Order: sequence, then structure tokens, then C-alpha cells
Amino acid sequence: MRANSPELDLQALSLRAPESSFAQDKALPAGTDGLVDRLRQAIQSLFSSPAVYRLAVKNVFTRWFAKKRTHEVFDLMAGFVNFQVLLTCVNYKILEFVQFNSRSFEELSEHTQLPKETLDRLILSAVALGLLDQRGANRFGIGSLGLPVVSYSGIQAMIEHNAVLYSDMQDTSRLLRSSQSSHMNHYWPYAKQDLSGGFLEESQATKMEQFARYSELMSASQNFVIDEIIGTYDFSRHQRMLDIGCGKGRFVSMVAQKHPFLRFDVMDLPQVIYLTQKHLSEAHLLSRFELHPGSFKSDPLPQGVDLVSLVRVAHDHSDEVVQALLRKIFLSLPPKGTLLLAEPMADPKGAKHDAYFHFYLLAMGEGRLRTPEKLTQMLQAAGFARVRLLSNPMPIHTRILLAHKD
Ligand SMILES: C[S@@+](CC[C@H](N)C(=O)[O-])C[C@H]1O[C@@H](n2cnc3c(N)ncnc32)[C@H](O)[C@@H]1O
Repeated sequence: MRANSPELDLQALSLRAPESSFAQDKALPAGTDGLVDRLRQAIQSLFSSPAVYRLAVKNVFTRWFAKKRTHEVFDLMAGFVNFQVLLTCVNYKILEFVQFNSRSFEELSEHTQLPKETLDRLILSAVALGLLDQRGANRFGIGSLGLPVVSYSGIQAMIEHNAVLYSDMQDTSRLLRSSQSSHMNHYWPYAKQDLSGGFLEESQATKMEQFARYSELMSASQNFVIDEIIGTYDFSRHQRMLDIGCGKGRFVSMVAQKHPFLRFDVMDLPQVIYLTQKHLSEAHLLSRFELHPGSFKSDPLPQGVDLVSLVRVAHDHSDEVVQALLRKIFLSLPPKGTLLLAEPMADPKGAKHDAYFHFYLLAMGEGRLRTPEKLTQMLQAAGFARVRLLSNPMPIHTRILLAHKD
């Protein structure tokens, strides 16, 4: 561990065995919950009164709070429309068009071929959301939020992909009942399983296309995750690492470039591993890698590594599958072996963006956004003696757990 990457010891935290993820982190000390609840109820009924609202708006000292709450509720309501504005700007390549030169309204109209009478709604909305920046009466440049979108192809790929999720979110009740026929479930072929645990029959060409499509999306969206992991964890203490669910292998190839003496094994489904091979060969790294096409559910894991990494893999699967995988990894590691598990994790206090991941993983199939505490508990149940949460700069991209075998 590098000196500048402090670690939190989750052993010290209460690790109750939750019956559902809902019960994961919400407990209050016995006896206090009733009192706190009553107090909350009293405050809430006070604030839900229209008279109190009017008073709060009139009073200069309380107006800020009333304003803040009102804006927050409006933002909740506007989420879908805001996303559609973003998606339309991406689809019409409006952000690229204004990235280096500001453009007039007429130029934007010619570029998009959208009717002038309605295009102004899109442009004004994009200005309001910070995607575009109005410069003078009739010119538009890139806005402060448009700039990261246009600069990172991974963000654009995720925005386009989000349209798949949002089409499933049109009928959330249906999704909550079953994600079996969701568009997202179809997008991720490994999330789609029959009862015997095998993949549903689809034409070979269609399957290969699906695997290639999601692998490309994962590769395009991995930059931020890679930066977080490589900037936080020092791989130089290891001799040989195995990346399970490696996708095209971008993460391991970045580690390989930084640590020339490290050797690698990579494992993914056969339909993906051939893409990994292609990527590693193009990066002239193939000689340091052993490729293992197979499923971590049914195939043995490669032996002889002192570090295993699971990057954005566990959250795609049910507790049952993840628990079995963690146990398999534990058994395959030598004494003092390490598992690095990195993926977005739930905030026990409920961060706003958790909602996105909860529904993303639900729409996909069996996956779950888990808290670091829940994953720690699962790692300990698998046999790992010490589990630590690393502190990385941008936890929204990924959080990182390190599990050590005695
Ligand atoms: C969400 S992607 C993450 C890929 C990569 N680690 C990243 O962060 O970009 C999950 C990966 O796990 C792989 N995967 C899913 N089920 C698997 C299984 N049963 N055995 C091996 N790999 C699997 C998928 O093919 C995919 O490449």
C-alpha cells in the first residue's frame, strides 16, 4: 500500500448479516429508533404544511432552505427530460460542432437539419443545462458540462447506451416484477440465462455481435476506473496476476505497461477472450499473458497467481454466484494471496447516483449494487482474513476493496 493511500478498516464496522440488501446499513441503536422516528415525523408534518412553506419563503433567513428543497424536487422531476436533451445533443453531434468554434443559430440549424421553429427549445435547454454556452446574442459555444461529454468518448458511449436502460425504465413496475424480457437483459447476453445455467440459444452471429458490442462499451467506459485503480494501488509487490472478467483487457494492459516484470492471466467467456487476444496483440503485450477462455461459474480458475482482480464483475451477478466465485478465488490463491475487487458500490447513507446503479443492475438481470460492508462480509464468508477499503479520489467511478488470505 502506498503511503498516500489511506485505508479504512472495515473489520471495525458492524457486519450484521442482512436478510435483504435493504437492511444492510440502516440500523440505529436499539431504543433510539422509535424516538428518532417520532421526531422526524413531527418535523416532516411541520414542513409539509403549506402555511409553513409560505412563511419559509417570506422569511429571508429560511428562504434559502425552501428554495433548495423546491429546486431539488424539480430536478427529480426533470431528470428524464434533462437526459433526453443530453442524448439529443450527442445524437446530433451538436457538442462536437461547437467544441472549437462557437456557432450561430443558423449554423446549428443547418448542421442538425431540425426545424428552426423548435430547435431553439433544444439549444436553450442545452444552455440551461450547461451543455452549451451562449456567447452573445446569437452564438453558442461548448458549455462547462458539454466539455467533459465531448472530450471523453466513453461518456458519450454510456449516454447512447443509457437510452437502452431508459426504454426499460418506461415501465418500472414491470421491471420490478421481472427483467427477463428487458432490453438491458438482451444487451448483456451473460445476464440472460435459462434455468439450467446455460446461455439461451441464439444464432451464433447474433451472440458474437452482442458480446463484441458490450465489450466495446466496457472498454470505452473503463478509463476513469483504470485511473482510479492504478493511481491507488501499487501492483509492484506482485509477481503474477489474474484478471477475471477482463473484457478486452484494457485494464490489465495498462497495468502491464506500468509494471514490466508482472506476468498475467486473463479469464473471460470464450466469445470475449478472442477480443482480449486481439487487443493484447495490438498492444504488443501478448507474450506476457496467458488467456483462459471459460466461465468462472463452471471452469476451474488458473493457479499460481498472487493477485486476482475482479473489476466491475461482482455487481453483475446474484449474491449466490458472487459468493461461490469469491470462495473459488480464495481457494485458488496461495497463502498471502490478494484479491482486488473494484466496482461502483452503494453508499450506506444513500448517495443520489445509487438509484441509477440499482436500476441499471436490476434491468440487466441478477446484478446488485452492494455496499463495501456487504462485500466485506461476503469476502470474509469466503475465507479472506483481512479486508480493507482503499481510499481513492473519485469513488463515483469505482470503490476498491482489498482482501488478503492469511
Ligand atoms: C461489466 S463487464 C466488465 C469488464 C471489465 N472488467 C471492465 O471493467 O471493463 C463484465 C465482464 O465479465 C465477463 N463475464 C460475465 N460472466 C462471466 C463468467 N461466467 N465467466 C467469465 N467472465 C464472465 C463479461 O464477459 C464481461 O467481460
